[in-house]
Amino acid sequence: MIDLKDKIDLNKLPQHIAIIMDGNGRWAKKRGKLRIFGHESGVKAVRETTEAAAELGIKYITLYAFSTENWDRPKYEIDALMQLLVNTISKETKTLNENNIKLVAIGDLKSLPKDCYQNLNKSIENTANNTRMTLVLALSYSSKWEIIEAVKNIAQKVQNNQILPQNITQNDFSDCLSTSLLGIPDPDLLIRTSDEYRISNFLLWQIAYAELYFTPTLWPDFRKEDLYEAIVNYQKRERRFGKTSEQIKPI
Ligand code: IPE
Ligand code: IPE
Ligand code: MG
Repeated sequence: MIDLKDKIDLNKLPQHIAIIMDGNGRWAKKRGKLRIFGHESGVKAVRETTEAAAELGIKYITLYAFSTENWDRPKYEIDALMQLLVNTISKETKTLNENNIKLVAIGDLKSLPKDCYQNLNKSIENTANNTRMTLVLALSYSSKWEIIEAVKNIAQKVQNNQILPQNITQNDFSDCLSTSLLGIPDPDLLIRTSDEYRISNFLLWQIAYAELYFTPTLWPDFRKEDLYEAIVNYQKRERRFGKTSEQIKPI
């Protein structure tokens, strides 16, 4: 039997994969456990996915770990999630370095609890020189928040007479998004787990032409094979970017 991994064309890899890691709560509920047990079990899926992506040669992977809207969850769940984040980041930094993976983060990071923010920054600094793959954590992130930050940035440039309003281009705007500021290209493939078919305020501008892939697998069950399956599916698609099929395929 051919391994799913062998079906992947290494010359046509998505450069950037973004993942909405969803379904931790339902995974725990099915087992009669508390939601936080689902979050804890999701860490293994993060490790496996990151490792699989790095092994294949993917250059960027972005994981949606906590949204702006998630602040509206019960306080005990938020506290437990933040604690899990602090512990995981500290524990995994060594592995990131061993695997030459650079950690960066997008979102309103200053809104994170102090210990979480400090740990995150420490890990970002410690992995800053790694070059094999960039792991982007979206934390306290929402796309509408990010877009308004970019708007403020542009407005400031107008006020400083650095740019005229009528001259603002798409590139001027996207240059102000947190992803561009970190040199992260737009995602080619967006994966969402847990059988939900929505974007939940994630990278709205950046996914304008991403391929979308939805799977019923709940995040804590997501393994390397699930990532391979998404990539194989992605590679079967024709990305036309508005053109006709004939224009894409030269005869
Ligand atoms: C995703 O799992 C993790 C976060 C949003 C932090 P959920 O906690 O949303 O799990 P479900 O969707 O309730 O099953
Ligand atoms: C999206 O999941 C955010 C993350 C995965 C961090 P949610 O579970 O918060 O999304 P909704 O609220 O169901 O859309
Ligand atoms: Mg959810």
